[in-house]
Amino acid sequence: MATHPAVVTTAPRAPLSIRHVPTVVCAADEVRVRVDWTATTPFDLHQADGGLVVTHGVLGSSYAGVVIELGVDVRDLSIGSKVFGFGFRGQQEHAFQLFVTVPMYLCGEIPSTIAPSAAVTIPDSFATAVHSVTAALHIPLPWPVPGHPPANADTLILIWGAASSAGTVTLQVLVHWGYRNVLATASPHHHVRLRELGAAAVFDYRDTDCVEQILETARMGRSEAPSIPLVLDCIGSVTGSIRPIARLTEAGTRVAVLLPVVIRAPSTDELPEYAMEVAGKAVFAEGVSVEGVRTHAYLENGELKARMQSEMMPALMAVGAVGPLSSTVVEGASLLERAERALAIMRDGISRQRLVWQVSGEGE
Ligand SMILES: NC(=O)c1ccc[n+]([C@@H]2O[C@H](COP(=O)([O-])OP(=O)(O)OC[C@H]3O[C@@H](n4cnc5c(N)ncnc54)[C@H](OP(=O)(O)O)[C@@H]3O)[C@@H](O)[C@H]2O)c1
Repeated sequence: MATHPAVVTTAPRAPLSIRHVPTVVCAADEVRVRVDWTATTPFDLHQADGGLVVTHGVLGSSYAGVVIELGVDVRDLSIGSKVFGFGFRGQQEHAFQLFVTVPMYLCGEIPSTIAPSAAVTIPDSFATAVHSVTAALHIPLPWPVPGHPPANADTLILIWGAASSAGTVTLQVLVHWGYRNVLATASPHHHVRLRELGAAAVFDYRDTDCVEQILETARMGRSEAPSIPLVLDCIGSVTGSIRPIARLTEAGTRVAVLLPVVIRAPSTDELPEYAMEVAGKAVFAEGVSVEGVRTHAYLENGELKARMQSEMMPALMAVGAVGPLSSTVVEGASLLERAERALAIMRDGISRQRLVWQVSGEGE
């Protein structure tokens, strides 16, 4: 059987290594993609340093590359099509390897105006944004997008951590569907950009009175309760987001937290500590609903399974409604070196950027 190189984690905080894994031949509804670009995300760090959710194995979820083999039922793509996507289930779908073999619904065609290295900044965050908004905040995202704003377009929605990749794309998605009252937290140097993307107001999460500032703005000219009905926490940090959010919620607020809950963040000196439950991490008022979000569940929604990556993601990127995100290209002499460097940069902390790197050494 043919094999190809993949970047794997073997134990928490052990150096990454290269393993030769089977090159999977396409089933009828699948495509095989040569992965030219990938992006290292916090989830890779959670897995590599914390062994989160998975048994150690091939890392990576977002890929961009070229179709080199097609199943017999694949209609909309051809050999040579430039594609991108978010794969996360078995070994054959993870992105830190020379080839992925994925069903058509985990794959979209890259708009001709967008470089693969830019397209690869989007798939995992787009899936997270659409899943969080629909499944956790219970805001429908009808497709195609209706030409009029939704009836509840003025609902206040807070994105905590809007400079994160997931937060920025969620803001873009909500604004594109017509929501006009999205509040956001981020470091001050991102405020102008987030306002340009459509945030109604942006707050510095490091201000000691950040929660009071948000509540004052939310209550200005309004008497409804709760003051902020919907909150998406894109950070999941017990001290950095969940506890402050708990202070601004009231009976009736719905809070969605991107998992994992980070009890202690990874650093060069310490192993991380995570939890997959939000319960017990902060004191919420009675009547507040709090839910942890796992994007991997989005395939349970048949409509999104069929259309999110193959249709919605390319279409929204093509018209500039979503992405691409700011990015830094991580260089290195080998596949392993690029993967290790990107993970080390992620461990040191990044601000509003995706770390992208070449896998095959071809493309662009
Ligand atoms: N459960 C899921 O399905 C799912 C899916 C995607 C992501 N996630 C999780 O969500 C988190 C974010 O992922 P990502 O890829 O979007 O991250 P990212 O792009 O790497 O986010 C980095 C940003 O986080 C912001 N940040 C850090 N601490 C903050 C705080 N206390 N309050 C507000 N903002 C803060 C920083 O903002 P400033 O630059 O403004 O300081 C920084 O720019 C990760 O833990 C990830 O694992 C979960």
